[in-house]
Amino acid sequence: MELCIIGAGYVGLTTGACLSEIGHHVAVTDCDAAKIADLERGRLPIYEEFLQPLVEGNQAAGRLRFTTEAPAAIAAAEAIFVCVGTPPDRDGKANLAAVERVTRQIAECAAGHKLIIGKSTVPARTAEHIRRTLDTFARNRASFEVVSNPEFLREGTGVYDFFHPDRIVVGCDTAAAAARMRELYRPVLEGLFQCPCHARPAADCGWHAPAWMETSTTSAELIKHAANSFLSLKISYANAIADICELAGADALAVLRGIGLDRRIGEAFLRPGLGFGGFCFPKDLSAFLEIAAELGYDFRLLREVQAINAERVALFVRKLRESLWVLEDKTLGVLGLAFKPGTDDTRLSPAMAVAHELLKHKLRLQVYDPKAMERARAELPPEVVYCGHPEAVAEGAEAVLILTEWPEFRALDWTAMKARMLRPLVLDGRNLFRAGELEALGFEYAALGQGVVAHTTSAAAPVTS
Ligand SMILES: NC(=O)c1ccc[n+]([C@@H]2O[C@H](COP(=O)([O-])OP(=O)(O)OC[C@H]3O[C@@H](n4cnc5c(N)ncnc54)[C@H](O)[C@@H]3O)[C@@H](O)[C@H]2O)c1
Repeated sequence: MELCIIGAGYVGLTTGACLSEIGHHVAVTDCDAAKIADLERGRLPIYEEFLQPLVEGNQAAGRLRFTTEAPAAIAAAEAIFVCVGTPPDRDGKANLAAVERVTRQIAECAAGHKLIIGKSTVPARTAEHIRRTLDTFARNRASFEVVSNPEFLREGTGVYDFFHPDRIVVGCDTAAAAARMRELYRPVLEGLFQCPCHARPAADCGWHAPAWMETSTTSAELIKHAANSFLSLKISYANAIADICELAGADALAVLRGIGLDRRIGEAFLRPGLGFGGFCFPKDLSAFLEIAAELGYDFRLLREVQAINAERVALFVRKLRESLWVLEDKTLGVLGLAFKPGTDDTRLSPAMAVAHELLKHKLRLQVYDPKAMERARAELPPEVVYCGHPEAVAEGAEAVLILTEWPEFRALDWTAMKARMLRPLVLDGRNLFRAGELEALGFEYAALGQGVVAHTTSAAAPVTS
């Protein structure tokens, strides 16, 4: 099929490259001309594993192209994916200005029959607004089918997730639109692809046929918000259990594993730490609270999820202060700035929130992240020291803080790290290590959920989103 993707971010670029890999002809467009120029030259604006070769290969094969000529790309496409950002407004509602702008542009440029596929995360009933806007502004006697096809990819494993989804949700009104969507995803539904992550046929790379779910557009929109909120809830639940474990002198990791081994619950997202961040969970949670409120439902449960998450960074800094007593004038090493491993995304990253909080104390921060240094540099104040390799953060440090659970941090030569440090203290915000592992090397070690928590009933002001 001839496809157009509008919005070349984490979702649009990954989806576009993957759709071209399964044989479609894809034009990716974005209002950011510099981003498109970089992409045309082979420079990706984001880091996502396996994405660079996928883009290069499909560009070379003539199936994937980048263009600023959105009207022509829209006119030529049979289906148009809307993948623009829906950032939070001040009140927590999703800002739909980009979605509306793109919808009007499609209405004005399209001719013939088009499938408009919403991938951006949007409030319930957005598809209805899109449909109305298309009908109001349509020229050239164009006709449209609006589909809500929520995106569930995880940053860091986006390419893998495209080829190995648990489910594909399609919200639409007609059997014809559903059939076109099924055709579009047929290679993924039937395992007819060579997995770019494993360079093996689908059947040999753990592929299972995903569930195919057809529903209304409003239900599809709600599925996305309800799913993200539930995962956020699991994380806050794990963090609350971790705090109780610390107060009781129990091992939070053991307790949470004991919970997660129940298949009805599952182990995923039951890891205590600095809480959730990134461009999805915090904003989608706020947006869902607003959606529920507008519909007349006070989603108190989710407000508590949000409140628990907001306390994590303050709790971590309080733990650090308990160990170091005074923070001023100290040198601290930071391992990890991205909101999670596998990505360079620092948007609403708890690691960045810790860095911002610490920098209020006039101390020296030596930081390292395998992928997110460039993005962090644009956001953090100039006095931060960016290290060329992870061991360098330990130089003269009175503590090393693990803020993102990049697996390579486990594999560092921690004995050599210790030799560089002024005081061998590690505060692990992500439970990358188990209690005892670093202590065996002579470190003082503390983590959220392991060791005694500095809990006060009047929680410190939230400092993270
Ligand atoms: N990032 C994720 O992991 C993820 C996962 C699932 C769903 N989502 C949702 O998908 C949407 C996109 O997220 P993202 O992380 O890719 O965002 P992003 O900020 O990385 O990318 C959005 C892109 O849209 C472009 N854009 C904005 N307005 C435009 C316009 N009028 N015309 C053309 N391009 C325009 C921006 O320049 C940017 O390149 C959001 O609604 C998000 O909630 C994100």
